[in-house]
Amino acid sequence: MAETAKSGGGLRNVVIGESRISSIDGARGILAYRGIDIHELAESSTFEETALLLHEGTLPSRAALEAFAAELAGERGVPEAIVDIVRRLGPAHPMAVLRTAVSALGALEAEASGDGQGALRVRCRRLIAQMATLVALLDRVRKGREPVAPDPALPHAANFLYMLTGSRPGATAARAMDVALVLHADHEFNASTFAARIAASALADVHGAVAAAVAVLKGPLHGGANEAVMRSLEQIGSPEGAEAYVRETLAAKRKLMGFGHAIYKTEDPRAVHLRRLSRSLAEESGESRWYAISERLAEAVRTQKGLNANVDFYSASTYRALGIPTDLFTPVFAASRIAGWTAHVLEQLANNRLIRPDSEYTGPRNVPYVPIDQRPSR
Ligand SMILES: CC(C)(COP(=O)(O)OP(=O)(O)OC[C@H]1O[C@@H](n2cnc3c(N)ncnc32)[C@H](O)[C@@H]1OP(=O)(O)O)[C@@H](O)C(=O)NCCC(=O)NCCS
Repeated sequence: MAETAKSGGGLRNVVIGESRISSIDGARGILAYRGIDIHELAESSTFEETALLLHEGTLPSRAALEAFAAELAGERGVPEAIVDIVRRLGPAHPMAVLRTAVSALGALEAEASGDGQGALRVRCRRLIAQMATLVALLDRVRKGREPVAPDPALPHAANFLYMLTGSRPGATAARAMDVALVLHADHEFNASTFAARIAASALADVHGAVAAAVAVLKGPLHGGANEAVMRSLEQIGSPEGAEAYVRETLAAKRKLMGFGHAIYKTEDPRAVHLRRLSRSLAEESGESRWYAISERLAEAVRTQKGLNANVDFYSASTYRALGIPTDLFTPVFAASRIAGWTAHVLEQLANNRLIRPDSEYTGPRNVPYVPIDQRPSR
């Protein structure tokens, strides 16, 4: 109503709830999880530690972290029925397969897991472990390859790359994947997280809430931008093509994918780390093409339009260097964001009230019901 009018639609600038999980200061370019600056987490944390931080609210002790990491490593497997379902879905969109697989996991678990906060926490943690397995599984199955069983000796990020490619990653690749998962793990009340919270507020089960979040993340206005960046880099082809590409895109009034942000008015703090990872991977592998095009493109966009790169921009060249197929970029985002989604489900349920906003009715009123034989025949 008045709120909608004030916000210009899309609930912009409307505070719709409280949260203690992550905070963003868009004007100063600050993102923090549970009050800890994302730069510190990107430098020093791991996905396992960050996921536990998001869930529990504080950094874990060494013993708690080791127990959590062991729990995740032990929960990575998925039932054979899920492999069958993924196989039957064939070449469908990877995000559609992921959404269906999450829902199917929930259907298979419902009987066994029980109710209550304890069981819910276990289910949330299991989903964090299984999401990466589902992403690797769907890629292998659609390529006609055998799934790779998880290796419990590997940390979460390294194990994901192992299940995806079939070979154990080197230290730089494993760390790059780990940091990328840390950077994408939560981002306040973004659209998919809000969807998960709405589902949780109705007391839907956690798999339903996460399936809703995956469905929303699939949308190109939300999770799909990293794929679009890779397609731009491919279209540009070489660093020399970057300036002309920017000129032509702006002249055609098209968006430059991976630039600008609804909240950050400075550089997206996550982009700093992804640029660094993209550069290290390029240096180590000797394949510097995508990083080199990215750097020229970012410079050209800054000069010609004054826009900064966002999280999706350097994710593209980073993921390409890690051997991740372009249409798997958004599923990889989900494999990280599952930590935030489940933290938000738990927070919502800890102090729940059904989310049910108002709308402003703008249609006609007092319309009489006309019997069908008295209506115009057309
Ligand atoms: C993310 C995004 C939707 C934020 O939009 P926003 O904050 O609402 O910004 P606005 O749409 O109000 O843009 C302000 C101005 O910058 C322009 N602009 C913003 N992002 C742009 C982009 N990526 N390419 C070209 N122009 C852009 C707008 O056209 C507008 O120009 P105008 O004032 O001349 O009309 C937008 O920047 C975008 O579409 N980016 C590309 C997609 C992307 O990378 N998404 C991932 C986000 S993490």
